[in-house]
Amino acid sequence: EKGTYPHYMLKEIDEQPLVLRKIIQKYQNDQGELAIDGEILDAMNSADRIYIIAAGTSYHAGLVGKQYIEKVAKVPVEVHISSEFVYNTPLLSEKPLFIFISQSGETADSRAVLVSVKEMGHPALTITNVPGSTLSREADYTLLLHAGPEIAVASTKAYTAQVAVLAILAEVTAIAKGRELEFNLVQELGIVANAMETLCDSKETFEDISRSFLSTTRNAFFIGRSIDYYVGLEGALKLKEISYIQAEGFAGGELKHGTIALIEDGTPIIALATQEGVNLSIRGNVKEVVARGANPCIISMKGLDQDGDTFVLPEVHEMLSPLVSVIPLQLISYYAALHRDCDVDKPRNLAKSVTVE
Ligand code: F6R
Repeated sequence: EKGTYPHYMLKEIDEQPLVLRKIIQKYQNDQGELAIDGEILDAMNSADRIYIIAAGTSYHAGLVGKQYIEKVAKVPVEVHISSEFVYNTPLLSEKPLFIFISQSGETADSRAVLVSVKEMGHPALTITNVPGSTLSREADYTLLLHAGPEIAVASTKAYTAQVAVLAILAEVTAIAKGRELEFNLVQELGIVANAMETLCDSKETFEDISRSFLSTTRNAFFIGRSIDYYVGLEGALKLKEISYIQAEGFAGGELKHGTIALIEDGTPIIALATQEGVNLSIRGNVKEVVARGANPCIISMKGLDQDGDTFVLPEVHEMLSPLVSVIPLQLISYYAALHRDCDVDKPRNLAKSVTVE
């Protein structure tokens, strides 16, 4: 039930710190160490390549997950949109493991891939929010998101839950391989949960930002580099699906290869700057669009912030930044939809689970 909330989406955004704490708890053993079913770890460890299959927001979480699994567990990963995979099947490695990411566990496009993967005899793991869902039943292994029912059509808490579970999977796989890790994930996720709370308590700020950047615009562009690029894709999807503002996410360096032609006086550019290694280059990209009249909304992370940034996120481990940087984007989208009198929880033309191919 919505309780005191006007919309499920707002309630579900607010639940994110709690969901994260629950995930940490559910994936801990009696000694307080992160743990995952041994069979799943064996499957992760015997794979020579991982293929992540997903759609929409879950695909965006998969892009972040690829970074985790490659950087931490050192297994090569490809991420594919499920509706493309069936006929655009890449040349598979000798020992592939398929990971299906699906909040509902019912997405027909993803299920079609699972059916063909099982026909080929390859192992499959489903990461889902719904125990007993089709994709969970039909895969060899399941990891649950523990996010509680997600009712709003626009996915919010499932995204952060997916990113968190993928981080845990990467870390536990690395430990099983005997790799030393430079950080304590439980501790870092605890810091993230606190940061999420701070952000959820800053709703008025995000409502103001939404009003000043998005109240009259017909389009908006999200830019970021590295992991921020993937969060930008999710921010653009969130904004367009509920506010109907035409929105697109780009890698910071890519805008100037064409889309910069669309920048006019006042066009909002939402730029993420949470990664030290690309901070200077993303800020260079912001200057390029500002020179063409864009209205920049810069969301940076503490430690990398500069004068004039629109919002500074509390500092978290930079690999985990998607868990916090997505929250302002969710809230800005929510308020943009609200200010435009859109049906926030049930946007036009969309269904919560897409059970047709
Ligand atoms: C966006 C959204 C959709 C879903 C997509 C996949 O807010 O909700 O893009 O993420 O339809 O759904 P699942 O994860 O249930 O397979």
